[in-house]
Amino acid sequence: MAITADFAPSCIKAELEATELKGKNLEFLTDLTRERYHHLFTAASMLEPFWRTGLNLMSGKVLGALFFQPSTRTRFSTELAMIRLGGGVLTESNPGHNSSAAKGESLSDHLRTVSQYSNIIGIRHPDYAAVAEALPSATVPVISCGWGNETHPTQGLLDMYTAYRAFGGFDGLRVCIASSDLSRARSGHSFAMGLAIMGAHIVYVGLKENPIPSTVREKLEGAGASMEEHYDISNSEFMDVMATTHLCYLPGCSVPKDNPEARNAFMDKIKDFYITLEALEAIKKKTGRSIGIMHSLPRNSVEFDYAIDHSEFELYFKQMAFSVPIRMALVASMVGIS
Ligand code: CP
Repeated sequence: MAITADFAPSCIKAELEATELKGKNLEFLTDLTRERYHHLFTAASMLEPFWRTGLNLMSGKVLGALFFQPSTRTRFSTELAMIRLGGGVLTESNPGHNSSAAKGESLSDHLRTVSQYSNIIGIRHPDYAAVAEALPSATVPVISCGWGNETHPTQGLLDMYTAYRAFGGFDGLRVCIASSDLSRARSGHSFAMGLAIMGAHIVYVGLKENPIPSTVREKLEGAGASMEEHYDISNSEFMDVMATTHLCYLPGCSVPKDNPEARNAFMDKIKDFYITLEALEAIKKKTGRSIGIMHSLPRNSVEFDYAIDHSEFELYFKQMAFSVPIRMALVASMVGIS
């Protein structure tokens, strides 16, 4: 045992500053380094005891929330993060109808305008390219709350934070990401990008007809991701693959109800990926490991057995709770505290 020169009390301000996210946008989880993740997760762990009671780090600061697509979890937890930090929130939950976007205002002007009223913006939008083009017009940091099929980094972050809290780190961690439509699985891909940076092993399971978007593949390859891919496999082969991992992540279906054709195609094909409680119990008996089931939610009954809700394998509702402290750490890092 020895006292070292860096012995000092822990400090939330120092952890937030060390993320080096102040004034920056959050688009892709491959934009962060391992060190930044370490500081972000440490800050989130320090904020976690306050995720229900709140504290006063961001008095007078305002989040502008623009959700051009439906959302419950992302909008509520991003807003709650700012509220729990002691700041305020201005929300437009249907800007395509209720804001000046409905009068033809460009996304660039919209972002520049909302920047005047807020210290940070969270935006969900169906078109990744449109937001990427408009982004330079914002004069405050912007969080992607889900853009197109490519990016949903705060979902990926909360998934990473859940894994970090469950396993204490990422060394040796193997994560299965399974969907009948990897072409639309922006939450799973965001999780994969973070896992790639942290050195975890990614096991993709999907269908050849719905491939991973090229933007995502390039980001994963650029990050040196350790990954394997399994396509068009049977349900029992899927269970065998899952048995080699610690977590199984289901990105769900992000297609809105007004596109029944695409939704029905997802629902029809996801049946081959169905996970039962019995299968998880059989894997545990064989390997001694409980595979944690993660889902970005909302879920559909054709994806997995809801009996898992009351088992040790359920992580999907716990993810939601962990989403608040990690979003608190993210917002405070991007805005900065004095
Ligand atoms: N996971 C997720 O993005 O959920 P919402 O669509 O409810 O925000």
